[in-house]
Amino acid sequence: MKHPFGAAVRFLDPSDIEERLEKRLGRLHARQRLGIEMDHEAQIFGQGLNFFHIENLLFSHTLIEAVLRLAGLYQRGRRNAAKLRLRQNEIVSQRVPRAFDGFRILHLSDLHTDMNEQAMACIVDLLPSLEYDLCVLTGDYRGKTFGPFSQSLAGMAPLREALKGPVYGVLGNHDTIRMVPDLERMGIRMLLNECVVIERGGQRIHLAGIDDAHYFRVDNIEKAADPVPLEEFSILLSHTPEIYRQAAHAGFDLLLSGHTHGGQICLPGGIPITLDSILPRSFGAGAWKYGDMAGYTSVGAGSSVVPVRFNCPPEITLHDLRSAGKGRTSIRPVSNFDRI
Ligand SMILES: [Fe+2]
Repeated sequence: MKHPFGAAVRFLDPSDIEERLEKRLGRLHARQRLGIEMDHEAQIFGQGLNFFHIENLLFSHTLIEAVLRLAGLYQRGRRNAAKLRLRQNEIVSQRVPRAFDGFRILHLSDLHTDMNEQAMACIVDLLPSLEYDLCVLTGDYRGKTFGPFSQSLAGMAPLREALKGPVYGVLGNHDTIRMVPDLERMGIRMLLNECVVIERGGQRIHLAGIDDAHYFRVDNIEKAADPVPLEEFSILLSHTPEIYRQAAHAGFDLLLSGHTHGGQICLPGGIPITLDSILPRSFGAGAWKYGDMAGYTSVGAGSSVVPVRFNCPPEITLHDLRSAGKGRTSIRPVSNFDRI
C-alpha cells in the first residue's frame, strides 16, 4: 500500500493480528475489545440491535455534506479544516521534579488521517520546526468507527517518520485494536491500561494511558494507575475526557484528552452544537481543572464525519511542564496562533 506522501508501507497479515493482540494485552482484554468491535460492525450493517447515533450512521456524512453544499459553505469548511492552530500551555506544579522543569510534550489528537490528508500534510511540514521532548497521541487515527483501517495506518506512517523522540498513544472510539501491532511497529508505544516511567536527570514522572472509555468502555484506570506512587507526578492519556472524575480521584496530576473535536461545527464564538460527550461544557475544549487535577481537551488536528470545520480550528498543542507553585497542579494557556 502507498501512503499519501508516496512511500511504500507494508502492514502485518490480518490473520496474525489476533494472536499478537492476545500476547500483547492478555486474552481477556483482547477478546473483550475484539468482541465489542464485531458487535459494533454487525449493528452498523443492520445485523444486530437497533443502533442510532449521528456519528455512526452510514449516510449522515452524505446528508451533512449535501446541506453544506446547498448552503455554499462546504468548500469554506474544508479550507477551515486544513488551517491548523498551534496552541501552547504551561502546566505548573510543585510536584513536577526539578529535572523536568521545561520538559515539553507535543500533543496530537483526533488525526482521522484517512479523511484529512491536507491537514496531515500541514502537520508533517510543521513538525521539523517544533522543539519537544516527547509526543503523545490521544486517539482516533481512523476516519470512520468501522471498516478497513489500512489507509489510516498509511496516513500515520509519514507522521511518525516526522516525529522526533519517543511517541506514546492511546486508542479512540474510532479505532480498532487491530491497528495496535502496526502502530507499535512504527515506533508508537501504545498505552492500553498501562503506565511507563519517564526519566530525566535522575528523576522521574509517570505516563499512563487507557483504552477507549467512550464507546468500547474497556478502560481500566485502576490498572493504569496502580504502579504510580501517590507522591510522584503523573499524567493520564485518555481519548475522552469523560473519565475526569475517576482520573482525578486516582491521583493523576494531569489528564490529556481529545474526542470532542471542540464541537467541530460550532456557532460563532466557538459555541459547540454537540460535544458527543457526557461532561461539563467547559471541559469540551482547552484547559480546565477538576479538584487537584489539571486537564486539557484538544479540539483535534483532524475532523470526522465530514472533513469541515466552522468556528473551531484544528490544533496541535505543546504542554510545557514547570516545577513551581505552591498548590497541586495548574494549567494556563501561553500562546495561541495560526499556522498554515
Ligand atoms: Fe475524533
